[in-house]
This record gives sequence, structure tokens and C-alpha cells, in this order.
Amino acid sequence: MSRFWIRRTFIAFIAPLLAALGAAQESGGAKSTRKLTVGFSQIGAESAWRTAETESIRGEAVKRGVHLRFTDAQQKQENQIKAIRTFIAQKVSAIILAPVVETGWEPVLKEAKAAHIPVILVDRGVSVADDSLYVTLIASDFVAEGKLAAEWLAKKLNGKGNLVELQGTVGSAPAIDRKKGFEQGIAASPGLKIGRSESGDFTRAGGKQVMEAFLKAAKGEGTKIDAVYAHNDDMALGAIQAIQEAGLKPGSDIIVVSIDAVKGAFEAMVAGTLNCTVECNPLLGPAAFDAVEKVLAGAALPKKTVVQDQLFDQSTAKAAIGSRKY
Ligand code: AHR
Repeated sequence: MSRFWIRRTFIAFIAPLLAALGAAQESGGAKSTRKLTVGFSQIGAESAWRTAETESIRGEAVKRGVHLRFTDAQQKQENQIKAIRTFIAQKVSAIILAPVVETGWEPVLKEAKAAHIPVILVDRGVSVADDSLYVTLIASDFVAEGKLAAEWLAKKLNGKGNLVELQGTVGSAPAIDRKKGFEQGIAASPGLKIGRSESGDFTRAGGKQVMEAFLKAAKGEGTKIDAVYAHNDDMALGAIQAIQEAGLKPGSDIIVVSIDAVKGAFEAMVAGTLNCTVECNPLLGPAAFDAVEKVLAGAALPKKTVVQDQLFDQSTAKAAIGSRKY
């Protein structure tokens, strides 16, 4: 091949190819330096619901190529505050926060705002005087959940009975609101009374321990517990175990209602030990990252997005169990 042809071939084919490769590498490099880093401060791993929420957010980050900095606060607000401060120091693009309790967030949220880092709340709300401290809250309506559970139970017990309540984590939005909603729901049935109410901290062990104490106290007084209302399925499953160990039949001797609609609750409804559960959808990853992307693109977001939930009982559990995703 003559020098002329070698030069022509280079100009016509090889030079553009090298240029294209270079551009691709450059844009690939530029893209990777622009990869979004998002901090996620999770409460802990107290329940099956919480695990499903963590998986949803982690999975969505992977799907979207987001670098997720994940921290587990082991149920402690101070750990969440520390994590947020670390995210600020690391200059993350956004923070996703599932706050363990409602109060005490102002100082750290102000620091995030001063650093121009948007905070997206998932699952639980906060109580702050200035709601510009967070961008948006994506969560279920906990009051409505409690009300639904109460109305179902009032019907089941024909408006009469001795109830006990297993509350969630003290000071948390779902514990406060599910209690409130339940009380609203039984208000029309003066024959329904909550005799005892204590926190089982949203855990199965906590639910079991508190229910054991309730059963012991009822035995001592010679009273009967007609139903237990648990603020989540894990505590209800713990209570079911306590009822069985006390020689009673959960689901018939004592009616059990709860909230979350995790797989274990469906299994218990099919087995006849749990009567009813109100769904609280933990699959918040897609909505959380939609919010992150929108706020970083400068779009306005609603202050609250309410996740739609529904009630399941033993009459619908069998048909639904196969399609449950958590
Ligand atoms: O905030 C949601 C609640 O927290 C879920 O109902 C419960 O299971 C979890 O631990």
C-alpha cells in the first residue's frame, strides 16, 4: 500500500474511530465523576417491614446507578443525627431520612439546609416549626391505618369487649398516630375499652414480653382479654406466641389485629392465628429516588405523598398471599 493510501485510510476510518473512542471514554469518565451520592439514615432492623424498606431503597439505588451511603441507627436518634452530620461533611447530593421519633430534628436539619443538601423523609414524619427543613415526606397515613383496624375490630366484636394495645416505639409517628386513629375508630362503640396499653417497641420479642405481662395481669384479676391491637405485625406475631404459650387460641379465644401486612402476617392469617392486618407499604425506594432526582433537577414537590394501603383479613388472606412482595 502506498503512503498516500495509508494516510487516506487513517484519515477516513481510523482517526474518526479513535476520536469516537476518546469521546466515549471522556463522557464515561465525566459520568462516573457525576455519579450521584445519596445518604440514607435508616432506623434499624426492628421488623420485617423495616427490612423490606431497606431492601427497596438499596435495590432502587443499584438500579439507578446511585452511590448509596447506608447507615443503620440501631433505633437511636443520636446515631441518626451523627449519620446526617457525616453525610453533610461528605457533601452528599441528598439525604433520605427515616426518622425514628418525631421531635428533636431542628438543629441537624438546619445544618443540612445550610449546606444546601435536600432531605427527603420516608415512612415517618417529623414535628418541626419550619417545614422548609425537609423537601417532602413519603409515607402512609398512620391515623387512617389505626382507624381501619379499629372499625374492623368493632364490627368483629359487635362493639363490645376488653382490649389491650401493643404500642410501637415511644415518640415515633406511627405509634402516636396509630393510637390516635384506633381511639377515633372505637369512639362510636362505648362498649370497647382499652384496658392496658404499653410499648413493645415494634419488635416481636417486645410484643411477646408485653403480651405475657398483660395475660398474667388479666389472670390475676380474673378478667378476660377479648382482643389485642398491635401497632405492627411483628409485635402481633410475638403476642400470638405468648397467647399460645398461655394455653389459649389466638384468632378465636383472643382476636388479634395489627398493621403492616408482611408475609408472616399472611401466613398467620391463613393459619387462623391472626385475624386482620392493615397494609403499610414499605416499598418506598422508587418514590424516594424519584423525589431525589426531581429536587436536584429543581422541580417542586408536594410536602406529603400518601402511600395507599388496604386491609386484609382471614377471608382475603389466602387469595392474596401468593402475590405479596414483602
Ligand atoms: O414506621 C413504620 C413502622 O415501623 C412499621 O409499621 C413497623 O413495622 C416498623 O418498624
